[in-house]
Amino acid sequence: MQYFNLKEPSQIVSFSEAIQLGLGNKQGLFMPTEIPEFFDRRIIELLNMPFAERSVEILAPYLAPEFDYDEVKEIVHDAFNFEIKLESVNESKNQHVLELFHGPSLAFKDFGARFLARCLSKVLGSNDTTILTATSGDTGAAVAHAFYAVDNVRVIILYPKGKVAPLQEKLFSTLGYNIETLAVDGDFDACQALVKQAFSDEKLREAVPISSANSINIARLLAQVCYYFEIIAQHPQVNNVCVPSGNFGNLTAGLIAKVMGLPLQKFMAATNANDTVPRFLQDGTWAPNPTIATVTNAMDVAQPNNFPRVEYLARAYGFKFNQTIFSKSVTDTQTKAAVKILHSNGYLADPHTALGIFASREWENVATLGTAHPAKFLEVLTEQGIIVDLPPAIAKVEDKQSLAIDMANDYIAFREYLKEA
Ligand SMILES: Cc1ncc(COP(=O)(O)O)c(C=O)c1O
Repeated sequence: MQYFNLKEPSQIVSFSEAIQLGLGNKQGLFMPTEIPEFFDRRIIELLNMPFAERSVEILAPYLAPEFDYDEVKEIVHDAFNFEIKLESVNESKNQHVLELFHGPSLAFKDFGARFLARCLSKVLGSNDTTILTATSGDTGAAVAHAFYAVDNVRVIILYPKGKVAPLQEKLFSTLGYNIETLAVDGDFDACQALVKQAFSDEKLREAVPISSANSINIARLLAQVCYYFEIIAQHPQVNNVCVPSGNFGNLTAGLIAKVMGLPLQKFMAATNANDTVPRFLQDGTWAPNPTIATVTNAMDVAQPNNFPRVEYLARAYGFKFNQTIFSKSVTDTQTKAAVKILHSNGYLADPHTALGIFASREWENVATLGTAHPAKFLEVLTEQGIIVDLPPAIAKVEDKQSLAIDMANDYIAFREYLKEA
């Protein structure tokens, strides 16, 4: 498969190049030049397969010819080695949650990060690289765990100081070894801007080979396509999905699954008060406001990086906004109330997942993506009087010292750090 740059379509690269570069020229995002489509009988066959086996079939064409089928099989089985559950939250409306948080860092990001780490290790062989990642919370933990102690890889995680849930922060800032963490004096968009600037800094790139593990990296999104198939495999009547959205990578993956032939009808991209996309869908103007801090901090993104991918897919495959792709903004008050009501009805959801369940409450036959384990957001749950047992992954790091280094929101300082350390 080849990949083209959305900002400069004449830049066409292989899968290996796309995942190493992260971003193309002019900071353009890579997309596959064609999306393989499966037709009726093949879709049924795929839906009858176990998750990992099916995922090999889905991903193999995107990695060919550089990775042969057996290599893809090895990567996928090793990366996707944890459970995915579809839990019912409202039987009468056939509403569900697809729980994607049973991996090592307790968030859906484990799928993409583990898959990318394994692909990059193969591509890099014995070459050194530095992985740059901006995180609003969960990416940091997933990437840190996926690359921890991988030879030749230095990982630098940038996160907005004081704006990430404390337990989330502990999951990535306490590892050390090849995982470095920078607490940036700014918001997530500022962290993302520093990373982007490093990618367009040719001189820096000559001195320090860098790759990205953010959802700008197409490998992460391809991995995420796989779990959309699992929704219908587990419940054939579910045909709508609600995606708690920040950077819009997960929504991009869902749309790719639909193009591939998965019979999904409608997508609800649920946002918090950072409502650039719902406002855009309403009045057609792209007018990001400054980022607002919310209880769903992993979605505090005012300038979603992946939205050009969503727009491209909508244009190329005829998905209409407000017919196939919907978007709604949910307030913190609504999110907290949703956490409480869901809990009293017997389902414990983290705030991001609860926000999605709330946004899609009027839909039937819908699965909301359960994006993070509730225990990662103890403060919000405790405020609602909910007591949660800490899963071992969190209990282990709770009392550990953060190793993060403070960093000004200043590109020159960041550049120096990259070159010196
Ligand atoms: C818990 C959680 N929910 C939702 C999202 C939003 O996903 P996306 O950025 O792909 O829209 C994130 C991403 O950071 C997250 O960590």
